[in-house]
Amino acid sequence: MIYNQGKFIALEGLDGSGKTHACNLLKNILRKHKIQNIIIREPGGTPLGENIRNIIKNLHPYEIIHPKTILLLIYASRMQLIQNIIAPALKNNIWIISDRYELSSFAYQGGGFKIKKELIIFLHNIIVQSYTPDLTIYLDVIPKYALQRIIQRGKLDQIEKNNIHFFTRIRNIYLNLITQNDNSITIDANLKIDIVQKDIKNKFKKWLRTCKIHGIRG
Ligand code: TYD
Repeated sequence: MIYNQGKFIALEGLDGSGKTHACNLLKNILRKHKIQNIIIREPGGTPLGENIRNIIKNLHPYEIIHPKTILLLIYASRMQLIQNIIAPALKNNIWIISDRYELSSFAYQGGGFKIKKELIIFLHNIIVQSYTPDLTIYLDVIPKYALQRIIQRGKLDQIEKNNIHFFTRIRNIYLNLITQNDNSITIDANLKIDIVQKDIKNKFKKWLRTCKIHGIRG
């Protein structure tokens, strides 16, 4: 077998950056290479996680939900996902494509909601440990375009209702962390969809070739 262990790929970016399309694109490429894979999403991906996702996305007109409560809920969802889906899949040589993962917590909760990164690192050390992505694909889009796209999509959820300054802080954290991450690919997602897709395909296929040579989980 050429690819002898499951790999973990995470897609990241602002709301409206096109992550979900990109996940399907990667799935097709992996399928063509006969690599068994699953798409998961965060928050969510397990029955409990999907309930948490609803709490996070829905509006709560009668109760203020503290940003730290949201952070804890996200890590509860992540714990379920790691234990029940990610760990067993990777062990069975099934690749994971995740629509968002922990970088979203640093960017949204750390940048957007201004929670101290020490608290997120603390949760990372307890919950995530070594279950970090082998590859993170970051779809970079300027907040102005991201907001235009989510408004076009329809009704805004609790997080999407924030203003451009909130999304600018998130993007700044993404850009800062992604440049420090050697296992990452950045895509200019401001461009036209066919150009973006071509860029993702080319860069991902190039990365896939390096997996063939090494064949082991990093
Ligand atoms: P997403 O799946 O991108 O939304 P959509 O269904 O609209 O495509 O994201 C769900 C929301 O959760 C998104 O606004 C970002 C937020 N989120 C966080 O705030 N922190 C996190 O750690 C994660 C994983 C998501």
